Amino acid sequence: MTAHYHVLGAKQFNRPELEELFESAIRMENREIWSTDPRYSGKVMTTLFFESSTRTRLSFESAMCRLGGKVIGTENAAQFSSTIKGETLEDTIRIVSGYSDVIVLRHTDIGAAERAAKVADVPIINAGDGAGEHPTQALLDLYSIRKECGRIDGLTIAMIGDLTYGRTVHSLSYMLTNYENIKILFVSPENVRIPTYVRHYLEEKGVSYAETDRFEDALTSADVLYQTRIQKERFPSIEEYRKAEGRYIINAEILERMRKDAIILHPLPRAGEIAPEVDDDPRAAYFRQARNGLYIRMALVEKCLQYEG
Ligand code: NCD
Repeated sequence: MTAHYHVLGAKQFNRPELEELFESAIRMENREIWSTDPRYSGKVMTTLFFESSTRTRLSFESAMCRLGGKVIGTENAAQFSSTIKGETLEDTIRIVSGYSDVIVLRHTDIGAAERAAKVADVPIINAGDGAGEHPTQALLDLYSIRKECGRIDGLTIAMIGDLTYGRTVHSLSYMLTNYENIKILFVSPENVRIPTYVRHYLEEKGVSYAETDRFEDALTSADVLYQTRIQKERFPSIEEYRKAEGRYIINAEILERMRKDAIILHPLPRAGEIAPEVDDDPRAAYFRQARNGLYIRMALVEKCLQYEG
């Protein structure tokens, strides 16, 4: 088996590699015509999604189409694949490897992408592994921060909401360790705090962070408010979920108290934690952020395929 450029977790990226991807994403964004590239015309991407998705799956598929490649896949792999007959993830990946040049995998289990990469004969891109990681979301989050704020170094980023089950905050925290003088403020209800292993990684890398359950602290200090959904489907019981829901809602009143030069990001989908009245405020950057996913994924898929030669 040959070596492939897998994208499994946020820790694998260093700063020069991130910068290279961002530059490549800018080139994708500035393309006037999305012409098909002959290098990719015969290439096939498989999107294998065991959990639901709108943005991640469709932006990967659109990215591949815009690069000139083709896409096959299943958006409900848990039901519409041989998994229902008891096939292991490893076997599914072995089979799908034979049909594809790159596999984008979203799975319910932490570590699924690593397991897939061990048996795959093509690059695996982790599009979310349960409550684990979501590295390509972190890439587009950083790309968005860089575009909106003009820099990443020196910023204070408040991550708000479900920090236990929200995989995007785990990946974003890891990736931020590549930058200088970052401050992270984790704002969450007591029962969904940022996992210890994420805090340890930040400590190891010398990134300064603080934890609080007070929304107010974020409003006055943060350059970026990274709002997240309470991941209802991942809670052990509805009672636990109830303890966490509805605590931090960005609405018109919060906008008034927020810094005038701060931005609001959200990986989306939102489930009530940002009121629709916020959408027209120039600081609401989450729809622009979702669009950036397309460019960053084009850059990433190009890199995976180039590596294959
Ligand atoms: C996130 C995810 O799936 O982890 N969404 C996304 O990829 N854009 C966040 C979420 O589901 O709440």
